[in-house]
Amino acid sequence: MSERWIRAGTAHVVEHRDRLLLVGDDGSVRVVTGASAAVIEVALAALAVPGDRAAVAAALADAFDGAPAPTLVDDTLALLAAVGAIVAAPAPAPRAPRVGPAVRVVLGLSGSVGAIAAPALVLALQRRGCEVQVVATRAALRFAPITGLEALTHRRVVRSLWSRDPAQPVPHLALAAWADLVLVCPASATTLARLAHGDHGCVLAATALCAQVPVVIAPSMNPAMLAEPAVQRNLAQLRDDGCYVVPPGDGVEVAEDPGARTGNRGGAPPPERMAALALAIHAAAGAAPAARAIDWQALHAAVPAGVDGDPDDELWAVIDRHAAPPGLLLDVGTGLGPVARAASDRGFAVVATDLAPAALAHARAAAGPRPITWLEDDVTASKLHGGFAVIVDRGCLHFLDVRAAVAWAATIVRLLAPGGVVVVKLDAAAAPAARATRRLDAAALAALLAPACALVEAVAGSFPSAAGPVPATTVVLRRRG
Ligand SMILES: Cc1cc2nc3c(=O)[nH]c(=O)nc-3n(C[C@H](O)[C@H](O)[C@H](O)COP(=O)(O)O)c2cc1C
Repeated sequence: MSERWIRAGTAHVVEHRDRLLLVGDDGSVRVVTGASAAVIEVALAALAVPGDRAAVAAALADAFDGAPAPTLVDDTLALLAAVGAIVAAPAPAPRAPRVGPAVRVVLGLSGSVGAIAAPALVLALQRRGCEVQVVATRAALRFAPITGLEALTHRRVVRSLWSRDPAQPVPHLALAAWADLVLVCPASATTLARLAHGDHGCVLAATALCAQVPVVIAPSMNPAMLAEPAVQRNLAQLRDDGCYVVPPGDGVEVAEDPGARTGNRGGAPPPERMAALALAIHAAAGAAPAARAIDWQALHAAVPAGVDGDPDDELWAVIDRHAAPPGLLLDVGTGLGPVARAASDRGFAVVATDLAPAALAHARAAAGPRPITWLEDDVTASKLHGGFAVIVDRGCLHFLDVRAAVAWAATIVRLLAPGGVVVVKLDAAAAPAARATRRLDAAALAALLAPACALVEAVAGSFPSAAGPVPATTVVLRRRG
């Protein structure tokens, strides 16, 4: 039995006169009456917040003027757990970092069926400290509830370029000036086309086009539409224009029979993930300057034979605390391969990837006969398939700009097995500016991978360099089950 419990978020207990109906997930119903019903009500009230067996016993003692029999507490907890009325209390999640007092988000909704999730997205943004103003196309409001959105935001949903308020005659310019971030989620194919072609004909597109702040776009449509050359051209244009385009994930095709839907890969991220990503992008966009583009192939081609990289015992001291062989380990951006070699020597089955064939040639030579799979692969557009127990990124992520970091996170979440760990070592804030790396701290990294992964620990350390040790941080995150 779990140590700590909490009342389930979904209803399992129905009151009827003096009886309680306990309704299981499988539809089974148990009827409880009299004193047993009273005990259950007290236990459920106590577990409105996370609590252990002792908390429930204390609540029962208070309610019934005397310590309950130990078996009564255990039987009550067992019954409530069996019907799903209480569940194991999750470990407290690291709080998503708040970026300033309130990040002002213009949330643009367009006419994708994904707009039905708009209220949940508003709530997820508000939970992270955002002030949200919704701007919607006419088609979006066929899916999203205007009254509900206005109730949640305490603001009128802006639907038209034409204002009736003389004090605010040009809503799209006022909103573009107000926003710290524009999030177009879901972005329909039509809205993508407007944005890519500079068509200011609707208030959503006009606001996003006029904004001088990060514009995050989450396409949402069926995969066949997404694959259309015209849609892909528009997405490429938007990336070139500096928008942050979020890779699509799980979606549903409403054209399919409700009983026969198989799911697809064209939807915007779920609300919690979308909100976390949007804020991570906002934080990172305002942080360090973009890392300079590095020609890794040329750099590695110039490395003399025999140079084989730093074994990094400090990194392994961290990894060894959280992961043990055997298991599949992915070494992202392997470079000269020291992480891959050490992992293989420990007994992991190792896949090591790098963008640069020259790096892989060096790494392969240095590894000798070790059974390592070496692959040319770009972590921001990876062709690999999932199931890795451990992913290690030593000094790769901090060379990616914000857009590439978002794609990096999508790859990590996709490739990491439930319960697996990702270990990232990157330059700390105090590293010399001349390194031109991005300075993501543990909280920003956790936001980038939320809610799929939870922060486990962050350890201060260093990278070796010719000029002496460079301050670094090793961050460990675990994929939720
Ligand atoms: C039931 C239904 C679901 C739709 N779902 C999507 C969708 O998920 N993605 C999309 O791009 N278009 C979808 N459409 C088509 C758009 O609503 C349509 O292209 C509309 O013109 C989009 O306009 P907007 O971008 O101004 O909101 C759907 C249409 C219907 C009738």
